[in-house]
Amino acid sequence: MKKVFLETFGCQMNVSDSERVASTLVSRGYQITDSQADADVVLINTCSVREKAEQKLYSEVGRIRHSGRMKPVVGVLGCVAQLEGETLFDKIEGVDLVIGTRAVGRVADALESVFKGEQVADLGERERDYNWYVSEEQRHSPYVAFVPIIEGCNKFCTYCIVPFSRGREVSLPADEIVRQVLEFRDQGVKEIHLIGQNVNSYRPVTEVGLEGFAGKTPFSRLLRAVSATGIERIKFNTSFPRDFHDDIVDAIEENENLCNWVHLPVQSGSDLILKAMKRLHSIDRYKRKVDRIRNSKRDIALTTDIIVGFPGETRKDFDQTVELFEYCKYDSAYIFKYSPRFGTPSYKMADDVSHEEKSARFAELEKVQRRLQAESLSRYNGKTLSVLAEKRSAKSYLDLFGHSTCHRVVNFSCGTEFLGKIVNVRITQAKSNSLYGEVV
Ligand code: SAH
Ligand code: SF4
Ligand code: F3S
Repeated sequence: MKKVFLETFGCQMNVSDSERVASTLVSRGYQITDSQADADVVLINTCSVREKAEQKLYSEVGRIRHSGRMKPVVGVLGCVAQLEGETLFDKIEGVDLVIGTRAVGRVADALESVFKGEQVADLGERERDYNWYVSEEQRHSPYVAFVPIIEGCNKFCTYCIVPFSRGREVSLPADEIVRQVLEFRDQGVKEIHLIGQNVNSYRPVTEVGLEGFAGKTPFSRLLRAVSATGIERIKFNTSFPRDFHDDIVDAIEENENLCNWVHLPVQSGSDLILKAMKRLHSIDRYKRKVDRIRNSKRDIALTTDIIVGFPGETRKDFDQTVELFEYCKYDSAYIFKYSPRFGTPSYKMADDVSHEEKSARFAELEKVQRRLQAESLSRYNGKTLSVLAEKRSAKSYLDLFGHSTCHRVVNFSCGTEFLGKIVNVRITQAKSNSLYGEVV
């Protein structure tokens, strides 16, 4: 039996693709191994969104080639594979297989050809094949499952490579999504994440599966349809601000199993920069959406992504980002320094904010966020949160950790028989990124 080591970088869509690849390979007679040194095949599922992510691949392949006893077959999957195609054979010595994001369903066929001595690059001319599945054993967690609902991206934000690496938006049929959620529910999954680059741009070709579910957008109707499956928790991300309709908040208020967490990446606090980024929302309209979320009768956690040092970003633009942070009081924020990506529209713009200035703005914003986050996290002190006990924490045998419905990491002490259960935890301490508490 050939052993496959599969390593995954990037977003949840890549994690989900890897789960599918692993499930398919096992059904075709391969074994998945945790040890790269023992592997006959090493597959690297890549991300291309920032420069560093791509460099990781180059050093990783080099490391693999010089580490193990034997030389495994090396395959590159995912976004770098889709963008670079067979040029990777020349760029990186030791690559045998290149499988793009649209071709991941065919990795087992491709491996057969590689074992016959061929070099294979498959970028999937055809539509992505949806009839593949995730087996229980290959999910990243026994209790949490990812369900892709929309793949690709049509937004073409000027800095972003994703529309090129993932292609155009394709929404999965609602009845198929509901079927998957029911299957996961019956397998004992407690929490599902509806995933996509922009989940709220969801637009399926047919009504099938949405009939009988009201709502002002196809996505809010889908939320209600998925809620009706009765699965315990439903989270979704990422939401695209322009397409974020108040009706999503209405749906969360109506249905307890729609979790109280919204990830709404703003990218900049300046209208000028948002325009240059082609984000299609203004700060004013963004704030109105945040107001609806913040004024909800449920305590909805709000998180975001932000880029500092985009071409042309002045001190004034940056100050507006800081002001926006003060206004929104994000529960957490992923802050990135702008990095030009070859092939994107902004690659042609002058990368005119110096490296030092980007780092300084990054550090300054991080400090602001740390302060705001500490204030907002303290609201949980003494409160009881519902937490899915997901894993043993590395520190102690008794300590478990999991996520609250608002997607906060919560650490607590209790026996491992609680793993996979939803427990009430009274918060006793709030640290910068996570909460600590005891089961009540
Ligand atoms: N679809 C999501 C996020 C996709 S990529 C959205 O629309 O928000 C994840 C994050 O990486 C982005 O939100 C952005 O903040 C960051 N990112 C993307 N391209 C980048 C670039 N060229 N430089 C720096 N950060 C980038
Ligand atoms: Fe990239 Fe913009 Fe699409 Fe998000 S919406 S994936 S940032 S192009
Ligand atoms: Fe990265 Fe591709 Fe996801 S570029 S963020 S792995 S869609």
